[in-house]
Amino acid sequence: MATLNRNFTDELRARLSIVDVVGRRVPLVKKGQNYWGCCPFHNEKTPSFSVNEEKGFYHCFGCGEHGDIISFTMKVNNMDFRAAIQELANQAGVKMPDYKPRDPRVVQREESLFDICEKAAQTYVEKLFTPDGAHALEYIKQRGFTDDMIKKYRIGYAPRNNIIANKYADSKHLIEAGLCRRGEYGMYDFFRDKLMFPIFNPKGNVVAFSGRSLDGSEPKYINTTDTDIFHKRRTVFGFNFARDAIHRANRTIVVEGQIDAIKMQCGGFPETVAPLGTALTEDHISLLCKSNRNITFCFDGDNAGQKAAARACSIIMPFARDTSDIKFAFVTGGKDPDEILKSQGQDAMRKIIDDAVPLVDFLWNLTNASFVVSTPGGRSQAEKFLKKEIDKITDPDFKSEIEKEYNARKFNSWHKWKRTDSAVQIKLPDIDTITKNTLVYIVNTFPELGERYMDFLGTLNIDFDGNAADLNLDLTAAEKYIVSLKIQRHLEKLNTQKQNLMTQLLSGDEGVRNQISQIDEDIKKYQQKLDTLISM
Ligand code: UTP
Ligand code: MN
Repeated sequence: MATLNRNFTDELRARLSIVDVVGRRVPLVKKGQNYWGCCPFHNEKTPSFSVNEEKGFYHCFGCGEHGDIISFTMKVNNMDFRAAIQELANQAGVKMPDYKPRDPRVVQREESLFDICEKAAQTYVEKLFTPDGAHALEYIKQRGFTDDMIKKYRIGYAPRNNIIANKYADSKHLIEAGLCRRGEYGMYDFFRDKLMFPIFNPKGNVVAFSGRSLDGSEPKYINTTDTDIFHKRRTVFGFNFARDAIHRANRTIVVEGQIDAIKMQCGGFPETVAPLGTALTEDHISLLCKSNRNITFCFDGDNAGQKAAARACSIIMPFARDTSDIKFAFVTGGKDPDEILKSQGQDAMRKIIDDAVPLVDFLWNLTNASFVVSTPGGRSQAEKFLKKEIDKITDPDFKSEIEKEYNARKFNSWHKWKRTDSAVQIKLPDIDTITKNTLVYIVNTFPELGERYMDFLGTLNIDFDGNAADLNLDLTAAEKYIVSLKIQRHLEKLNTQKQNLMTQLLSGDEGVRNQISQIDEDIKKYQQKLDTLISM
């Protein structure tokens, strides 16, 4: 908001009375120093929303909302900052200041860089169809590019000789644009004997190039180094083509390579983009999240792909909202999306995308794979890791939901007594209504118990906001109730586990005998605990 300077917002605050601005939406009554009304941000019948004319602030004693005319206008109309300023300017009868014109020298310089990149792109395209470029054309066709694709993505060929340095010798910007370098004998082209992919900015201007080697030499790709119009860390390949499709599909697919991105865009997934020559950066994610927060990452199934996914997960946490759908898909078998589309077709690719793992599960699996959660040390490390990641979430509601979810998962699979692996998923019967009502009563009457046994209570699927009949339990009795229920539930689970193992034993699997006797011991132990508890 560099152009909407402080002066203008200050002017609005000076011109407009907060009592007027709020008063248009909320009937206010003066009582003492302040004006009072019913808070527009939460449901209430008696006014706890106060407005202070002198200070220019509102404050709700009920829900804690607090702010000035700008935040009020933004919140109550669900507007962004600029729209709210516009609305307030209308109310004040003043004109919004125009955008400050950019420094003409900077603009001119950028125009020259766009211009020379555009010319270079044209030259490379022409060269692809000359005898010099025959091997490049053959290569790209053999990679499955049609004429239309070559045309749309403006694929070209940079010949061995210094075509750009020679052809545009009078341009002052060849080096600044990253097209040429200066050597002992004058300027030479940066891209020589390369298959050329222009890189476009979101508006569709050519800002840089990625050149693929054609003779198997390394590195496989070289990219323009950063210039005034190209910042690799902030550039997403294919975004200019994908923008509308991202809007229509209401999601973005992110793949690792630019050829993959092109093949995906042309093979039924026009909402696909790729980072450019680097791992994913925060800038990439922030750019993508500005247009859509539903992102499916599609990585190679190998180790590098898993690492890249872990990195993407860590970077995207601060951008996650309860409304965003972030997923991780993996292409297995040492392939990439390009190869899947070519060898198995669009449906196979769609299946991979559809099978993507949601962020919550990905992070959970990652944690379990990275630490030995069967040991206290491993669990402690895992806890720290999870906490660090969750703490990045900025949306408080979402954060607390995720915490609850993980608490339940930790209880279910990290606890020592649950470690007896059973091939069969065990589903315990639902809690009956009387038990449910008792628990709702307990949690609402003794919140400290709710907190102490949150992990356990979280596994029961109970809506604790509901009303419950008044019961006559004191704190000790209430805690005893919860603990005995916890043990009972555990016993139910042990018994189901035992039954499953017995079935295995009957079908001849002698190996489970040990597990069964272990479970028998556990059952005895917990039964004793329960007996003691009840007799206390
Ligand atoms: P890959 O090696 O997976 O390339 O690198 P790819 O896209 O599958 O290449 P093809 O299919 O063999 O042509 C993924 C991405 O990493 C960047 C490029 O952007 C590439 O698309 N990269 C890779 C480089 O910048 N330099 C390299 O040397 C290699
Ligand atoms: Mn590839």
